[in-house]
Amino acid sequence: MKKTILVLVVVVFCLPAFAQNKFVGTGTCACHNLPKQGKQVDVWKKSKHAEAFTTLKSDKAAEIVKAKGIKVAATEAKECLECHSTGAGEAVEKSFKVEMGVQCEACHGAASGYKAIHNKPENKEKAIAAGLLKGDEKTCKQCHGANKMHDAKAFNFKKSWEEIKHPTPKG
Ligand code: HEC
Ligand code: HEC
Ligand code: HEC
Repeated sequence: MKKTILVLVVVVFCLPAFAQNKFVGTGTCACHNLPKQGKQVDVWKKSKHAEAFTTLKSDKAAEIVKAKGIKVAATEAKECLECHSTGAGEAVEKSFKVEMGVQCEACHGAASGYKAIHNKPENKEKAIAAGLLKGDEKTCKQCHGANKMHDAKAFNFKKSWEEIKHPTPKG
């Protein structure tokens, strides 16, 4: 018993401080539409990620759900939302909208803990400590490459990244 409690205590205290971060939604990331920032929101809006939730309303989505024996609509099914949206089943703030699909925070981490500080370069380390993630090939492969729900295209990181890259302009 004592051992179990010890393990529990260790586990709880070792959880990253940002485990409680809430998803705030891409609507909150408007500063990232300034040209000097790199217009990440525009890049994202034109990407398939912005449509990922809408895809769940298609006839094809309904067929997949039926074939898998899932009893709810695709737009409600956690089996689909985990890849076609952001923050499914997680803590979210009022500003968050699941309809916006695979949002910034799917790759950069739930933002409630870092949104107020990450805009200043001198806060970079602090923002990372508060849960800001960089995102890389591993992040993509959470959703791309293989899939229990339907056939998936082979995933080529370099090629895919070219389609959705959104760097901050230099200078
Ligand atoms: C949370 C899940 C998730 C993550 C993480 C994710 N994607 Fe996607 N991605 C999707 C879904 C779902 C679609 C299909 C959206 C649609 O067509 O409705 C998609 C579509 C795309 C497309 C359009 C072409 C295609 O395959 O349909 C590209 C390019 C892409 N993703 C690149 C990336 C890259 C690069 C990363 C990592 C940096 C990444 N994605 C991370 C879920 C994700
Ligand atoms: C599919 C995953 C994915 C999504 C969605 C996504 N990003 Fe990114 N983002 C990345 C990756 C990967 C990088 C590159 C990280 C690196 O190498 O610096 C990146 C880089 C960035 C950078 C540049 C950092 C730098 O130092 O130049 C900014 C700013 C950024 N993202 C903001 C956003 C915003 C705002 C959104 C939503 C509108 C968004 N991202 C959506 C994966 C994503
Ligand atoms: C592991 C992540 C993942 C899960 C889980 C997932 N999808 Fe997808 N889905 C994707 C990706 C990524 C794409 C883009 C195509 C590709 O890369 O294969 C996609 C594409 C689609 C498409 C478009 C296919 C086309 O040919 O136009 C539909 C429809 C779809 N998914 C429905 C669903 C439904 C319904 C569920 C739940 C039963 C679901 N997906 C679960 C990742 C996922």
